[in-house]
Amino acid sequence: MGGAPHRPARIHVISRCTGPVMTSQIIPVEPFDYIVFGGTGDLAERKLIPALYHRSSDGQIVGASRIIGAARGEMSDDDFRDFARKALEAHIKPEELKPELLDDFLGRLHYVSVDAKSERGWETLRQLLGDEPRVRAFYLAVGPSIFGDIAARLGEHGMIREDSRLVIEKPIGNDLASAHALNVAIGKHFREEQVFRIDHYLGKETVQNLMALRFANALYEPLWKSSHIDHVQITVAESLGLEGRAGYYDKSGAIRDMVQNHILQLLCLVAMEPPASMDADSVRDEKLKVLRALRRIDASNVAEMTVRGQYSAGASNGGAVRGYLEELESGSSDTETFVAIKAEVENWRWAGVPFYLRTGKRLAQRVSEIVIQFKPVPHNVFNADAGRPIANRLVLRLQPDEAVSQMIMIKDPGPGGMRLREVALDMSFAEHFHVRSPDAYERLLLDVVRGNQTLFMRRDEVEAAWQWVDPIISAWHETGQRCKKYTAGTWGPSAAIALIERDGRTWHEEESID
Ligand code: BG6
Repeated sequence: MGGAPHRPARIHVISRCTGPVMTSQIIPVEPFDYIVFGGTGDLAERKLIPALYHRSSDGQIVGASRIIGAARGEMSDDDFRDFARKALEAHIKPEELKPELLDDFLGRLHYVSVDAKSERGWETLRQLLGDEPRVRAFYLAVGPSIFGDIAARLGEHGMIREDSRLVIEKPIGNDLASAHALNVAIGKHFREEQVFRIDHYLGKETVQNLMALRFANALYEPLWKSSHIDHVQITVAESLGLEGRAGYYDKSGAIRDMVQNHILQLLCLVAMEPPASMDADSVRDEKLKVLRALRRIDASNVAEMTVRGQYSAGASNGGAVRGYLEELESGSSDTETFVAIKAEVENWRWAGVPFYLRTGKRLAQRVSEIVIQFKPVPHNVFNADAGRPIANRLVLRLQPDEAVSQMIMIKDPGPGGMRLREVALDMSFAEHFHVRSPDAYERLLLDVVRGNQTLFMRRDEVEAAWQWVDPIISAWHETGQRCKKYTAGTWGPSAAIALIERDGRTWHEEESID
């Protein structure tokens, strides 16, 4: 990929904490019932059950809290516990599965067979929930086409109370109109304060660290604007392909699957004004302003501001892999598996600072990061022998290993005159604090119980994101902008490199943070 040729030296920031190194405090949450619709599905198996197990084994789930799987199939509580045990064995490290903790967790599990399209099972669920006052979180780990049906049945059977919450995941619509219709359908039964729209990127440690870095330090905020920042890059690169999700993915493509939600949320957190507090609406109001300030991309500028790509056969993760069309087995599709966009936030703080966004499947490496590229010093006081100062860069890596790296210039150590050298002040959280990095769902699932909506998307945010994305998709159709092919295992089509290089900039070279 097009990256800077030099490799800065790395300096690992070692602990200089004032006081003992502390990990976040674990405060038990009040007893709850989590009702997971789609309780035997893929999301429950890979993410929800493991996340709840971790929170339970850390002592955060206590008392009479229950996790109730709900799905169409007939199953006993014991069958469901068996399913959960297998899910944990498959998705949790063996050393984290302690028999007594596992028994305690499995003892909290129950199962009810319900059918969203008929009366079957709803009364059984109502009876199981009983009348005890405790938080009820209904998690819809099912396709959005039945969100409205489930919300309506819960309403008709009197299961929605003041302390009830609804958790939904993307896709929240596939355009503004369908997202709006979905929000209206659930809004008939749940108030906005009861609806938790998950974007799991907001639960990632580095994403929350971005807020800590910006708002808990006096250092960055005065520089966080167009007078000091040259541009921002947000990359979410995956090395995997379709993973059996062809049916969903081919209708979505990278822009709906990743940009409308995860990438725009990251952009909002970088670009938003400091909120008055971490209170949910203060944060979400600021994010909304960013979404509304995004410069419209339509048929008049789409060719210059966006690149679409689709992978063809190549190599990934050390082996040969098929192209997108072969994976699809349908022979033809113009769905993009890669997208790069030059976005602009048209407000006082960010005027003239491009935000280069890119995401794709079957890229060279799995890496997600946000790069804040500062401007160069206004005047170079050093002579030619010292070398030119390289502009500072802040790299926040979300995955694979969460880290923050600040590139700065120093004098090359030792005798021999003044030579400038770029070094990276590296801070790797797992290494530094010796803690297991929690999965994003762990934080988010319990935030639902606590009723904290700060890391969840509000209805108007989701709709504002579609309002920006819809014209891009229409413009692609209108102008006939087709996908450019890229070989699996590369960094996407060369047009994506040209998109940034036209502006005299290069994509950050991912390897350099290691
Ligand atoms: C999901 C997308 O929301 O996020 C997937 O639907 C994608 O296509 C996934 O693979 C990426 O999440 P993560 O946490 O693995 O980066």
